[in-house]
Amino acid sequence: MKVAILLGSVRMGRQTHKAAYYLKNELINRNIETDLIDLAEDSLPILRERAGHHPDPPENALQIGERLDDADALLLVTPEYHGSISGVLKNAIDYYWSEFKKKPIGVVTASAGSFGGINASHHLQEIILSIGAYPMPMKLLVSGVGNAFDDSFEPQHDDIVKSTDKFLDEFLWFADAIHQKKINAYDEEAA
Ligand SMILES: Cc1cc2nc3c(=O)[nH]c(=O)nc-3n(C[C@H](O)[C@H](O)[C@H](O)COP(=O)(O)O)c2cc1C
Repeated sequence: MKVAILLGSVRMGRQTHKAAYYLKNELINRNIETDLIDLAEDSLPILRERAGHHPDPPENALQIGERLDDADALLLVTPEYHGSISGVLKNAIDYYWSEFKKKPIGVVTASAGSFGGINASHHLQEIILSIGAYPMPMKLLVSGVGNAFDDSFEPQHDDIVKSTDKFLDEFLWFADAIHQKKINAYDEEAA
């Protein structure tokens, strides 16, 4: 199974990327093939048209689309901005549709304060329903994100280690259940 992480924090002095890179390292430690799409490194212009409908799409829009398409499951990672997800993440999601279809998606939100981006997490689960994908009920909310990791993305307290571990156990169970169902359906069709 292959997991893509789509990271929607690109601000100068950003903090939420630390959670995304930590998740990537933890998935790799679990021998899961993982592709982190960091929109700060691979920025998408403000949407003029969806990747599949644009007469001359930005080259990296097609590449990011292929990377999303290639993934069996996704983690969407966003800070909470003004009570919702980041504009950068929403803009990226709007480029694609079929790439998300029937995929299991885990929600990860972060905030400087103690609520961990809970408003953004609710909105993101609704968006996932709108794109025809399956939002995992359990979410990872990272509160106090500025102090949760060091600059090498190492967690700075036990709570974040435990909550991430529990979240990834659940995510891999959820993702694998849907992945296996698709494999079985493919085998039945081929038989
Ligand atoms: C434009 C903007 C809006 C924000 N709105 C919220 C908010 O609604 N709720 C909240 O808990 N934190 C909010 N914050 C603070 C973030 O929690 C903080 O920046 C945190 O480090 C996560 O975002 P980052 O990845 O940009 O660092 C906001 C920050 C910015 C830059």
